[in-house]
Amino acid sequence: MSFGVDLGSSERGQPVELDLGELLSTRLLVQGNSGSGKSHLLRRLLEGSAGTVQQVVIDPEGDFVTLSDAFGHTVIDAASYSLGEVATIGARIREHRASAVLSLDGLEIDDQMRCAAVFLNALFEAPREHWFPALVVVDEAQLFAPAAAGEVADDARKTSLSAMTNLMCRGRKRGLAGVIATQRLAKLAKNVAAEASNFLMGRTFLDIDMLRAADLLGMERRQAEAIRDLERGQFLGLGPAIARRPVLVRVGAVRTGTNNAAPVLLPLPGADAGAELLLNLEPAPREIVAPPPPPPRPAELIRAIEAPPPVPNLPSLDEEERTSRIGAILSGLAATFSGQPAPALYQEFTVGCRMAGIAPIPPLADFRRLFALALAGIDGEEGWAETLALAAALPEEMLAPFLRIARAARDGAPCPDDAELARIYGTASMGRVKRMLGHMEERGVIVIRTDLAGGRSIALPHLGWTSAATEAGRAA
Ligand SMILES: Nc1ncnc2c1ncn2[C@@H]1O[C@H](COP(=O)(O)OP(=O)(O)OP(=O)(O)O)[C@@H](O)[C@H]1O
Ligand SMILES: [Mg+2]
Repeated sequence: MSFGVDLGSSERGQPVELDLGELLSTRLLVQGNSGSGKSHLLRRLLEGSAGTVQQVVIDPEGDFVTLSDAFGHTVIDAASYSLGEVATIGARIREHRASAVLSLDGLEIDDQMRCAAVFLNALFEAPREHWFPALVVVDEAQLFAPAAAGEVADDARKTSLSAMTNLMCRGRKRGLAGVIATQRLAKLAKNVAAEASNFLMGRTFLDIDMLRAADLLGMERRQAEAIRDLERGQFLGLGPAIARRPVLVRVGAVRTGTNNAAPVLLPLPGADAGAELLLNLEPAPREIVAPPPPPPRPAELIRAIEAPPPVPNLPSLDEEERTSRIGAILSGLAATFSGQPAPALYQEFTVGCRMAGIAPIPPLADFRRLFALALAGIDGEEGWAETLALAAALPEEMLAPFLRIARAARDGAPCPDDAELARIYGTASMGRVKRMLGHMEERGVIVIRTDLAGGRSIALPHLGWTSAATEAGRAA
């Protein structure tokens, strides 16, 4: 299921969209000089996809904390927590699919790196049942994945580089989609940059960065000059989530503000201001200012993360319409199923539900059952309570193939062949299908008979149903 995030407009004034589904599996790299509009672009992307996908922002400047008011992102002010606490918060963020901004503002660079590393590792190391899709946006990525050893402490550089490498190279399977922005491609570790298949290149002056950018875009070296001439807010985009050929995008407006406005020229103070600097050298009495309120402790922050987000007031659908819309989304997903893990499918399902105005969205546990029914070609739960109860004897991932067999047995229709069972079991291995059938038989929920011609029929003894034999020529 695809969802386009509107980035802005092309040269011809046509909208340029970023395909969110594609982005989740192909990652994005943004490059441009300071002031070229990278953070603005990231903000446009975050605003356009908030509410559709979980977002986690690693924010060295505290630029993105303003997303909290408009979209409810949890702000983690890193300077207020220990590394251990940051790791706990990271794990909770993953478990509860909360969108969050890790603000590293106010920390020394070494600590920024250690903190980002601990947090990213917590996201990465989450248990399999928490592998939900999430965009992980890292602004100023060259700080966290530097190409060369610099002034920073060795341990900080190593842990942070390894966390960034995990995110970009091995995060996809875990649902983590890296979106990284950097001022200088040449300063970003090559293996981290290399994993992105989508690029947005903004104004770049230094030859070395310009040439690397042109290489990534597949442009000839003599065309690379175009990258120098880009205006602020203009990017050349390429990649499976954007376009097959480089396209020029003028990034559109954003809704939320930044904490770091661009500097503006102000008239200089009058000439005698200089003299004033040398007068009144007595130390000024210290103003007593009220201390800022303490940041929330982890327990409070975690409670806030666990609280369900507010439910928007959508017009309620009648039951029949709701069921039919959910059914349509499920059968769309079933038609393209190729073994994706349940959390990833559930994410697609929730996107579909939101787009269809379905609220509340069925929880993951219900989704697993409904999706298995859809995979088995069964329309609704009515009449299947006993079969579902029997299936409780089997591992969850066998539900769909079991229901498919049950449907054939109930109707006396031909038994599904191995290829069909493999598809809905989410495997390409016929050996796994055989083992699955063996397991079902061992649990006593099915009995398999093979006739002399090699055709297979399956009975459900508890329900007294038996399928016909597999169709001729399709013997299992
Ligand atoms: N597409 C745009 N439309 C309007 N204003 C923009 C656009 N892009 C950037 N700006 C403005 O230009 C200024 C610089 O942009 P931004 O902070 O995004 O640059 P940057 O590339 O992130 O720079 P740095 O690397 O120094 O962080 C900001 O004030 C921003 O609001
Ligand atoms: Mg920036």
